Amino acid sequence: MHLPSVDSTNNYAKEHIAKSSPIDGTVILADEQYAGRGQAGNVWQSDANKNLTFSIIYRTDFLLATEQFYLSMAVSLGIKYAVNSMLSMQNDDNSILNTKKLLTSIKWPNDIYVENKKIAGILIENTISGMHLKYSIIGIGLNVHQDNFPTTINATSLKLISSDEVNKMDVLSAVLSSIEKYFLWLKERKYEKLKQAYLTQLFRFNEFAIFKKENKLFEGKIIDVDSIGNLIVERKNGTEIFIEKFGFKEISFVV
Ligand code: BTN
Repeated sequence: MHLPSVDSTNNYAKEHIAKSSPIDGTVILADEQYAGRGQAGNVWQSDANKNLTFSIIYRTDFLLATEQFYLSMAVSLGIKYAVNSMLSMQNDDNSILNTKKLLTSIKWPNDIYVENKKIAGILIENTISGMHLKYSIIGIGLNVHQDNFPTTINATSLKLISSDEVNKMDVLSAVLSSIEKYFLWLKERKYEKLKQAYLTQLFRFNEFAIFKKENKLFEGKIIDVDSIGNLIVERKNGTEIFIEKFGFKEISFVV
């Protein structure tokens, strides 16, 4: 469904689910969102017509509510690799010019980064029935043509990092195919495979870094994530090593 303007494609998807039984994989794309939502109640800012703002509706009744982070891993991997392949085309073309390969990664829990800037964000909202999920609304904002961002946000776009003039619909199609690949892993219950793939792409995985919790800094190393998305961090206290679990918004990186 291609809409010129809507408050939020996630809201539209929610209303659509309440009114009908949408086909698995329905995509709602908007040229403009006037009340785009981000994670943790934040606003998602995106200039009209410049970027991709869309939601996918998937039936996820095969997933337990306690397994929901595997869906987030699948979607993050799909977007990460779609962005990667668009940039590697660019890298290959420019290899004679010795262009530095750009590093894409997933920043926990599911932000897509190119080097140290965010290019895409994901907002997943589920309906739940008993112990299982029922529908998942996967809201994705991917910066494509926007070349000017408020200084308060650390964002980039395909246009800013690639000299090619990319077509938004081609990007959408590449992202959807790539997400489907990992969604199929999920349907086949390849949870361990998804987790290993996710961890290898995770920013600062398995390396000591400085984190901040409640304004206190500490050194730690991400060693795992659990099925509901908690970050598992190894910490040191003098010679003692201990493991701690953090939920979303409990800690942040100090880059
Ligand atoms: C984040 O990183 O904070 C998540 C951003 C998610 C934005 C997308 S744009 C399409 C969909 N509709 C919304 O209102 N939000 C998501």
